[in-house]
Amino acid sequence: MKYPVTFLPQNIVTHAPEGTTVFNAANWAGLPIDSTCGGRGTCGKCKVRLVRGADGVSEADHRFIAEAELAAGWRLSCRAAVHGECVAEVPRLMSSPKAALLGYGQHVLLDPNVAKVYLKLDEPTLEDQRGDLTRLLDALRVEGWDVRPDPALWRALPGVLRDSDWTVTAVVVGDELIAVEPGDTSAEAYGVAVDVGTTTVVAAVVNLMTGAVVAIKSTLNGQAAFGADVISRASHVMADPGGLTVLHERIVATLNALVAELCAQAGVRPEQIYEAVAVGNATMLHLLLGITPEPISVAPFIPAVDGPVTVAAADFDLALHPRARLGLLPHLGAYVGADIVSGVLATGLVRNPDDRLRLYIDVGTNGEIVLGSRARALATAAPAGPAFEGAQIRCGMRASDGAIEGVRIEPQGAGAVRLQVIGGGHLAPIGLCGSGLIDAVAELINVGLVDSSGRLLTPAAARAAGQPSELVERLVTVDGVRAFLLSAPGQNIVLTQTDIRALQFAKGAISAGVHVLLDAMGVTPDDVYEVLLAGSFGSYINPASARTIGLVPQVPVDRIVAVGNAAGEGAKMCLLSFREREAAHQLPGFIDYLELSGRPDFNDIFMEVLAFPPPAGAPPVVRRQ
Ligand code: FES
Repeated sequence: MKYPVTFLPQNIVTHAPEGTTVFNAANWAGLPIDSTCGGRGTCGKCKVRLVRGADGVSEADHRFIAEAELAAGWRLSCRAAVHGECVAEVPRLMSSPKAALLGYGQHVLLDPNVAKVYLKLDEPTLEDQRGDLTRLLDALRVEGWDVRPDPALWRALPGVLRDSDWTVTAVVVGDELIAVEPGDTSAEAYGVAVDVGTTTVVAAVVNLMTGAVVAIKSTLNGQAAFGADVISRASHVMADPGGLTVLHERIVATLNALVAELCAQAGVRPEQIYEAVAVGNATMLHLLLGITPEPISVAPFIPAVDGPVTVAAADFDLALHPRARLGLLPHLGAYVGADIVSGVLATGLVRNPDDRLRLYIDVGTNGEIVLGSRARALATAAPAGPAFEGAQIRCGMRASDGAIEGVRIEPQGAGAVRLQVIGGGHLAPIGLCGSGLIDAVAELINVGLVDSSGRLLTPAAARAAGQPSELVERLVTVDGVRAFLLSAPGQNIVLTQTDIRALQFAKGAISAGVHVLLDAMGVTPDDVYEVLLAGSFGSYINPASARTIGLVPQVPVDRIVAVGNAAGEGAKMCLLSFREREAAHQLPGFIDYLELSGRPDFNDIFMEVLAFPPPAGAPPVVRRQ
């Protein structure tokens, strides 16, 4: 259940799920409310006047707000939950907070979950015999920090306080005091944002004081030897009693090596990294936590942990500060994971003030799709299969040196086929990767050699249709299957009729997923304003080709946008702003997840969208209502 929340005097309205705090709803609406405690009810800065919807007075309210103000409706916005229509008057910010543009044009306040507080403590005397910990916590409270000390601190505390002459820096993560460092180290604090992909892991070390990324790198996931996709990894866990341990150790080793390399590059010590935020699909994050992904991979597809999680990084063998925290974003469903939540956050898909409907697609073996605007959002996962990765394609290969990644066919005159090869034009092509496959099929549709049913013309039919002889000569037969010769004759790189069918099925699955969401929302493809193609593969797809084959709705090409590693961007935003992290934590309450498997209408929709869209000028295909 969602309720309208209106913020005055701006008169901004947002719809917040029941139980959301007014503080978080304001952030969702793009309104920063003052805070230094991250919405934990300990700084007293987040006061708003609830004109409507005040529901009781919390203990924290009594601590920070005078009786007369309480009677007038003033409350701590981080303690006031939405249980009905709500109207809140928000005072202007006393000072303008530091902000940065992150993600994709998102204005993010720099208020990380990690804070460093420089303290000059009073030395103990016979008149003041408070214990070391009490003395420290009292001093923090004076500075507005009401924190829980990590017990692991206790042993070192007497030495640190006395050796540093009672001048220390407290390191607070969330509401926990995780370290006390001698002297003033308040200028230096780092975090690491990690996108744990099934194939590639990307990590960025971020200066939490400035918001600058000091080092970023990607590397292969060390689990790659156990299969290319999440199903193979889960199968390994099921088949081998030691499989879970091995896969957990592999991803931890990958992350530790990556962080060590990044630290060396940036001149940062791993112990200066106080927090990590990790995103990834549900299987990858389960393996990172050492949890079996088996229940995710079989119906009814249940993750062990789907909400946001914060744990001690050392408990999972991550080599950061010994008491660093690791935060994981929530999942929307077993196959729409924290990486998609993070990408939705980074692109502002459901927070854009223009209220336009946008479609977010992460194209891969599993196609994750989110359709939404500020008003409503839906998500699903479509089983596209491995064609986009070049698998089960006769000359298919991964996107690496020698792979054809782009294809152009000149329809007029010479009928030339121009190829774009990864690694440069001097390399002879050795295969076809996913983006090249999409381009090749789109170009064959454009010149009329593949019809909308997906059939590749025979040489006789092509000749009869007036195709130039240079193209007709490329129509060959390979092992009894019709094919088009893409490369020079000696190189023999062909696109077969079977490959075209495989691509057609893969795009059909994603397109069917898109149509299920459109139908569920009661809109048509014409209502989609923009398509955001996410993930490393999405960045390389030619938008015009994606539209030609019907992978995406027929929106203008300049509104099909590659958003790159949106998941990694979202993780950075969460690292740099607790408000953004709160917004990410709320996304599962806002986005409804639709499970495709078992839907009785999915196969019908899939069959209807399987054909390639008719070329421009042809009568439109009318879908069954
Ligand atoms: S008391 Fe600090 S944000 Fe509410």
